[in-house]
Amino acid sequence: MCATAAPWWKQSVVYQIYPQSFQDSNDDGIGDLRGIIQRLDYLKTLGVDVLWLNPIYESPLVDNGYDIADYQKINPMYGTMEDFRELLEKAHERGIRIVMDMVINHTSTEHRWFQESKKSKDNPYSDYYIWKDPKPDGSAPNNWGSTFGGPAWEYVPERNQYYLHCFAIEQADLNWESETVRQDIYDQLRFWLDLGVDGFRFDVISLISKDQSFPDNNGEYVYTKSYYAGCSNGPRVHEFLHELHEQVLDHYETITVGETPNTNSAQALLFTNPERKELDMVFQFEHMHLDYGKYGKFSLERVNLADLKENLSKWEHDLEQGWNSLYWNNHDQPRAVSRFGDENYPVESAKMLGTLLHGMKGTPYIYMGEELGLKNTVYDSLDEYQDIETRYFIENMKEAGENPEFIRQVVYNGSRDNARAPIPWNDQKPYYGFSNHKPWLNFSKETSANVETALANPQSVFYHYQKLIALRKQLPAMVDGTYTLLAADHPQVYAYRRSTSNQDLVILCSFAPEEIPFELDPKESRVNPAKARLVLSNLENSPHTLEGVHRLRPYEALIYCLDKEN
Ligand code: GLC
Ligand code: CA
Repeated sequence: MCATAAPWWKQSVVYQIYPQSFQDSNDDGIGDLRGIIQRLDYLKTLGVDVLWLNPIYESPLVDNGYDIADYQKINPMYGTMEDFRELLEKAHERGIRIVMDMVINHTSTEHRWFQESKKSKDNPYSDYYIWKDPKPDGSAPNNWGSTFGGPAWEYVPERNQYYLHCFAIEQADLNWESETVRQDIYDQLRFWLDLGVDGFRFDVISLISKDQSFPDNNGEYVYTKSYYAGCSNGPRVHEFLHELHEQVLDHYETITVGETPNTNSAQALLFTNPERKELDMVFQFEHMHLDYGKYGKFSLERVNLADLKENLSKWEHDLEQGWNSLYWNNHDQPRAVSRFGDENYPVESAKMLGTLLHGMKGTPYIYMGEELGLKNTVYDSLDEYQDIETRYFIENMKEAGENPEFIRQVVYNGSRDNARAPIPWNDQKPYYGFSNHKPWLNFSKETSANVETALANPQSVFYHYQKLIALRKQLPAMVDGTYTLLAADHPQVYAYRRSTSNQDLVILCSFAPEEIPFELDPKESRVNPAKARLVLSNLENSPHTLEGVHRLRPYEALIYCLDKEN
């Protein structure tokens, strides 16, 4: 066991499940809770400590569950409340905790609160959402745009007013300025905590406080996404989260992670500094934006290693008293191997990326299938994409007359469906052990890996992740060590050290598709190279110590450890 006083969630590894695509237990083509129960032993074998489930509540699924219609009901397509209790119990029996995805910036317009709110300007729910009068010419109150395209305001004749939606029209933003609304939200959280869940991932939580002057934004676009205008990190965001902590979280033992778009490291420190009692950690987006092009995530650009080193290192330093979440991918991002690794070296580069991430300071998150090294989804036709963001994008590009091949390529690179296709559990076509029914979203035409084959192969990406997870429990420096970037100017190697007073770790990761010479300068690393022993490699026959010139093979990744004698 790891000799560290750090809270349990700093020593944990979280595994994210997109329930719709994990495992179908009743052959309707949709993953479900009983499917997750069936696979708990698989997750236990991997060694993860916490499961984060994407939203499983009652929802019309306009944005796949991020549009909640009832916070206290399970969407029947996933199962029943009984199934959920059983999942919780069986996970807990195995020492695995469960984190729910809480979407409290907005609700579905089908939520009872909205249905009441839209009826009139004076009903008990009238100020539950953000309603504004039209401008004198009848147009929207300001020029904010929705994340998925178009304006962020929708007109409702019954009230002769517009309501704000930072996302789809069917996702209305809640009015956190109202004390009643906040209390009602806190009750929803207590409901799940009382049931025994272990924490929350708070969806777009940096957006809950809006600039109450609702200023027009003078951007280069007709509509500036609302979170670049007056919606992120608004004046009361910290006050609200502190209140939520005081009134709810403080009374339970929880792990909380806030998804915080448009948040820099100084703001993230405010969210996560334990003294401030807000959140345990955040999902920040800066490293996700390093390869953004003209159309944001839909681009052909590749991340430059120098930028990646600079950015990740900045976050490792700036969050000193706070805490970060470490991630390469999730349900909103393409697959890590395709984006940051190399599809020609899927196994090597997947293991390398895992090593780089898990060695860092923060809580690592594994998105389902990442432990198999799954690549982006390959589809024959653009019609196979289901995601609302992708579909809006395709429509807009077609209208703009973009070249079809360009659209195909950027969608392949950037679509959220890259990560949302079902998990292949074995190699049996057509549904790979996920279901006996055509799944809600097609499998990739090129399934690059599957669970059964991975479990049978000691060299698979799966077992490398298993080792990384185990190391976090064995090497205190992996949890507590301070971070120092090494060989900062090296164009192809990402090297860093993690140190406590008793232990040094040196992590070397090659981003080169060919063999390259590499030698660490002991003056810089301050580690005796002959004494640093190899604890993990993604290839066979790697050098046992750090001494001399290493010939790093394509995407080789190495962890060396030196226990200091005091
Ligand atoms: C978050 C979710 C994303 C969703 C959005 C709106 O970014 O991760 O999937 O579309 O919030 O709720
Ligand atoms: Ca099902």
